[in-house]
Amino acid sequence: MKTPQVQRYTAGQRSNHWAVVTCFVLAAVSGLALFHPALFWLTALVGGPQWTRILHPYLGIAMFLLFLGMFFMFVGANIWRKEDSEWLGKAGTLISQGNRAKMPAVGKYNAGQKLVFWVFTLCLIVLLVTGVLFWQAWFAGSVPIGVQRAAVLLHAVAAFVLVLAVIVHAYAAIWVKGTIGAMVRGTVSSAWARHHHPLWYRDQAQASKK
Ligand code: HEM
Repeated sequence: MKTPQVQRYTAGQRSNHWAVVTCFVLAAVSGLALFHPALFWLTALVGGPQWTRILHPYLGIAMFLLFLGMFFMFVGANIWRKEDSEWLGKAGTLISQGNRAKMPAVGKYNAGQKLVFWVFTLCLIVLLVTGVLFWQAWFAGSVPIGVQRAAVLLHAVAAFVLVLAVIVHAYAAIWVKGTIGAMVRGTVSSAWARHHHPLWYRDQAQASKK
């Protein structure tokens, strides 16, 4: 018997997400190649050294613009509420013991997901602004060298935090069984929805009755 499914993402939302992921991987590989000589070999994956240098800023801009689409689609469901602070306070027990009995009921996203969403947003803004400031081909000529140096440092810090956040995000998506399907097929099982996001499930069930 087929398990009942609930729609979580449209085809457009999923395409947008995987386009961001593609840009992220290419921007991360080319960025790491430019970051340290020990990682120079990575340029081979992005068309060689010249192409790495040319493409990296454009990949970053594409990632930012594509993420903007996701930002406006998902920001409403990622607004921080007081139950989220309570959820976060108890997250340690959930992770160490897998016991969700004392956790507050969750809507479309839990506090951990919301936190990651806002870290993504902040990092992408910092990466865009700082990247433009030392983009040699276009803008860097009119930016004081001290500002460019500070921008390079901040750019590296934001990239590091973004990579860590993506690892946490992808790990959580794999760790919570049944989640990947949400971004692949667009649906989750009703049992998954009821178990992990009961308030969202309730709203979906009510909407489908109307
Ligand atoms: C290989 C890496 C990635 C995997 C496996 C992955 C997987 C997923 C999955 C399964 C979901 C649905 C979660 C749910 O509905 O509960 C999701 C949502 C989402 N992902 Fe990813 N993702 C990856 C990389 C990224 C990257 C690089 C970004 C942006 C920088 C991103 C941004 C988002 C956003 C904004 C959502 C909506 C959830 C929210 O707003 O909190 N993802 N991802």
